[in-house]
Amino acid sequence: MADILQIRRPASGTEAELAITEATIRATELRQFDIGGEPLATFDPGFMNTAVCHSAITYIDGDAGVLEYRGYPIAELAEHSTYLEVAYLLLNGELPNPTQLADWESQVTEHRTLPDKLKTVLAGFPYDAHPMTILMASVAAFYSFYPDARNFDDPAARSLNITRLIAKMPTLAAFAYRKGKARPYVNPDDSYGYCHNFLAMLFKQAERRYVADPRLIRAMEVLFILHADHEQNCSTNAVRSVASSGNDLYTCASAGIGALHGPLHGGANEAVLKMLREIRTVDRVPEFIEGVKAGKVRMMGFGHRVYKNYDPRAKIIKKSVEDVFEVTGVNPLLEVAKELERYGLEDEYFVKRRLYPNVDFYSGLIYEALGFPPEMFTVLFAIPRTSGWAAQYQEFITDSEQKIARPKQIYTGSRTRSYVPMEERD
Ligand SMILES: CC(C)(COP(=O)(O)OP(=O)(O)OC[C@H]1O[C@@H](n2cnc3c(N)ncnc32)[C@H](O)[C@@H]1OP(=O)(O)O)[C@@H](O)C(=O)NCCC(=O)NCCS
Repeated sequence: MADILQIRRPASGTEAELAITEATIRATELRQFDIGGEPLATFDPGFMNTAVCHSAITYIDGDAGVLEYRGYPIAELAEHSTYLEVAYLLLNGELPNPTQLADWESQVTEHRTLPDKLKTVLAGFPYDAHPMTILMASVAAFYSFYPDARNFDDPAARSLNITRLIAKMPTLAAFAYRKGKARPYVNPDDSYGYCHNFLAMLFKQAERRYVADPRLIRAMEVLFILHADHEQNCSTNAVRSVASSGNDLYTCASAGIGALHGPLHGGANEAVLKMLREIRTVDRVPEFIEGVKAGKVRMMGFGHRVYKNYDPRAKIIKKSVEDVFEVTGVNPLLEVAKELERYGLEDEYFVKRRLYPNVDFYSGLIYEALGFPPEMFTVLFAIPRTSGWAAQYQEFITDSEQKIARPKQIYTGSRTRSYVPMEERD
């Protein structure tokens, strides 16, 4: 028997049967109810209970704390893969075989350099510009250099521009970082892998060859894998929404970077570190928790729209913190973070609301240990999320169900007033 939802409106005696498929009803079917001349609609600020697409990329079960990319559990990918392998998986649906991986890595390596004229764009920013602003503007500017990105219906052009963007993000991020430090840019080195090369472009000084500790390179790979995609989050929704008007990948990714920059999304790890610094010592944690419970502050790095359980990424990151601190020495703020977490997991306020540590709770501590200033933290999220945005963009472009994004509103303003001449206004 077909699964249906019967709806009856006593006020008008109208009834309808809506088909339930994939645990959803089609919102447009509600239009058959006429409410005083208006078709019935749903009101859902923040898309709390609205599916906007079919997607085969990332699966999340927030109650169980499960995250899978293309069906592979995140913990297994974090343990065995490299970031580029995961990016290939997100984009192509399958893990690459050795030949495919080597080919993909060499394509990415080939496209790492930035267009020369982009350096003039970078030079125009104030020395203290936030690197996310530089990233957002420069990624949007890529479209001027690669206008073939609008040929997104051509799989070859689409794939080339995806590769370009994934390849150039670390270079752009490293240049933005070095600009802020007034240090000369370090060009990509083809002999390094994706993460090692990134660290070299950031931190190389006078030495002939920059060599990073393999444990730090691995920590970077893991962080990049964990941040690569997270289904329909705020920035991915921005990417899809901008794509819906027929935009190129660069314009869409630039919108994604803008969305990611907000402290409730990618900016949270920067906010976590600020919070830990303000708390400073373990003995001040109870006072801080009281402030959270009184609604004065939020515990940054806690809570998630989807996870009502321990964020599986936070578990993996917590382990990476220890690996990184083995190399760099322990940051005393780790103790403050652990004490906050202890409270968070035991205190009724957090337990009742199902607030658990999210991916950002420990990542800031790692980034700081690796030598990044807080304003770079969101940039470190944007680099790997680019592969997720690209995969979602590609899925959107090839999805015949999709339309231009255009939500409804409930209008609450004045109606049809006569224009008041200036001299008659109070
Ligand atoms: C992520 C986040 C935006 C999700 O928000 P949301 O799904 O809209 O949840 P709400 O803001 O409606 O919160 C639900 C309840 O939990 C409380 N809450 C949510 N996150 C909280 C936090 N980090 N600290 C304290 N209380 C929190 C809210 O005050 C609200 O309480 P109430 O029911 O008494 O009003 C939110 O948890 C948050 O701001 N977290 C901190 C920022 C962060 O770490 N972001 C990174 C996400 S990966």
